[in-house]
Amino acid sequence: MTFSIDQFRLDGKVAIVTGAGGRGNSIGRAYALGLAKAGAAVVVADLNDEGARNVAAEIVAAGGKALAVGVDITKPESVKAMANAAVEAFGGVDILVNNAALMAELGYLQAADIPLEQWNRIFDVNLTGALNCAQAVVPLMRKRGGGKIVNQVSGGAYPAISVYGISKLALVGLTTTLARQLGREKINVNAIAPGNTMSDAGKQLTPEDSPFVKLLEATVAMRVRGQPDELVGSLLLLCSSAGDWITGQVLHVDGGWVLRP
Ligand SMILES: NC(=O)c1ccc[n+]([C@@H]2O[C@H](COP(=O)([O-])OP(=O)(O)OC[C@H]3O[C@@H](n4cnc5c(N)ncnc54)[C@H](O)[C@@H]3O)[C@@H](O)[C@H]2O)c1
Repeated sequence: MTFSIDQFRLDGKVAIVTGAGGRGNSIGRAYALGLAKAGAAVVVADLNDEGARNVAAEIVAAGGKALAVGVDITKPESVKAMANAAVEAFGGVDILVNNAALMAELGYLQAADIPLEQWNRIFDVNLTGALNCAQAVVPLMRKRGGGKIVNQVSGGAYPAISVYGISKLALVGLTTTLARQLGREKINVNAIAPGNTMSDAGKQLTPEDSPFVKLLEATVAMRVRGQPDELVGSLLLLCSSAGDWITGQVLHVDGGWVLRP
């Protein structure tokens, strides 16, 4: 097949983005707007349903297709209702972006001291939430003959500094295992690992003068901080037929923070 730039287009595709209705400038919002610009109908899903409605309205005002859905990804019934809403509104699901997570509210919790209840809550949202969403949409992707799942992990999974990082490392494990188990069904499962991204939540977690930013300045190859929009191109690669032969990978979009051979 000859390469065509149109392989990045998503016309006729249906995408669900979780955590897309967050505080003002969020990564999920950038993802939802980007997928819609590429032609997909987008289900903007979030615990914050008012935020989801705002982002969906923004997409529709720009001429795109979107539906806002309030969802709690830790509750399988709520997640099933989200998937059903996608089918009802747009006829099926082709793309799932597991972007919702707890992050800024966690800070740098230490594994040795964390109460078990808090640990369980973090894993419920950041790991089991993504599994719940995958379990709800995989049967729908099978009906369409394939699909794309992108899990939002983090460069923060690798330096061993937080319980948040452990949850994202676990999500890398879910990514590679789902990729192996679903590959023959033409369901690609990949992850994006952003670096220090200046969403409103990112700014809250790492203000300019935080020791974490100083650490990054000493190690990151290029620019230390990025914007949500700078992640969108990688998402489109992993969600479109341009990325059909990529699965089980973690794409680091971080200016050269986590450098892996
Ligand atoms: N900002 C960064 O520097 C950075 C870096 C690496 C990875 N990430 C990851 O990117 C993603 C988005 O981050 P962000 O900076 O836009 O933060 P954000 O807090 O704006 O986005 C997270 C969203 O998840 C939603 N959410 C939380 N629990 C939920 C639940 N149970 N059900 C449904 N939705 C729920 C929140 O309402 C929020 O809208 C997260 O997965 C985060 O871990 C962010």
